[in-house]
Amino acid sequence: MLVSGKSILQHAHENGYAVGAFNVNNMEQVQAIIGAAEETQSPVIIQASQGGLKYAGVEIISAMAKTLAENTTVPVAIHLDHGTDFTQIMKCLRNGFTSVMIDASHYELDENIRRTKQIVEMAKAVGVSVEAELGKIGGVEDDIAVDEKDATYTDPDEAAKFVSETEVDYLAIAVGTAHGPYKGEPKLDFDRIKVIKERLNMPLVLHGSSGVPEESIRKAVSLGINKINIDTDIRQAFHRAVKKFVAENPDVYDPRKIVGPARDAMKEVIKTKMEMFGSTGKAWR
Ligand code: G3H
Ligand code: 13P
Ligand code: ZN
Repeated sequence: MLVSGKSILQHAHENGYAVGAFNVNNMEQVQAIIGAAEETQSPVIIQASQGGLKYAGVEIISAMAKTLAENTTVPVAIHLDHGTDFTQIMKCLRNGFTSVMIDASHYELDENIRRTKQIVEMAKAVGVSVEAELGKIGGVEDDIAVDEKDATYTDPDEAAKFVSETEVDYLAIAVGTAHGPYKGEPKLDFDRIKVIKERLNMPLVLHGSSGVPEESIRKAVSLGINKINIDTDIRQAFHRAVKKFVAENPDVYDPRKIVGPARDAMKEVIKTKMEMFGSTGKAWR
């Protein structure tokens, strides 16, 4: 069942759990996500970055995601991750995405508000939900690279102003996570999550969630995180499975045999995440 991002995340916000937003670039990833959502009866968000859409084509990603979403009973939203390009965001609106992120977090507050408002006006006019980001999350995503030392945590007062002026549906906050693999153990600013949740009382988003210890994820969810972005952990599951298969079967050249086990491995990782986030059994009809 294809639904808006807001309907999924409002339900998560009201019922105190988080929904996984998993990045896709190909068919196997879309199938792995829907398979995991069905087996655990979880609502789920399929998301593609601008890089992912350039790689596969926005029409192809949306056709695959829409087809599977419309043919399952679990609630599924299709989301643009880290949209920075106005044209790309418009393309997603035209291609049936039910949620988009406008990421203008690298601009000053007023410019971030101005750019975010522009997207909110257009997306809401066609019933599409909007995520925005305030603060700077470390690491690399698409064409934005933020050095660890330049990462800045979200300020609760600024967050309150940002949300009241832009009317975004959910907000990504910077609280100590970073995109890509971690070198050491990430330390989350749990007090900041708590304060922001109390101030805003709306769905909050955690980026850079791969590799964050289970205990920290569970605590972040208990304090008000409702959307959890995972890309790296799925890529690594894919890589491990392909490497293993090719090492054990060096002469097999059928792509289905090489990539099939990776699809199963990704599904297992996603199911584990769904259980950790508390979305298992939360699908409604
Ligand atoms: O937020 C970052 C995601 O991991 C997307 O990465 O731009 O390489 O597709 P990508
Ligand atoms: P990871 O690199 O930790 O998987 O983060 C993904 C993400 O935040 C996508 O927006
Ligand atoms: Zn991200």
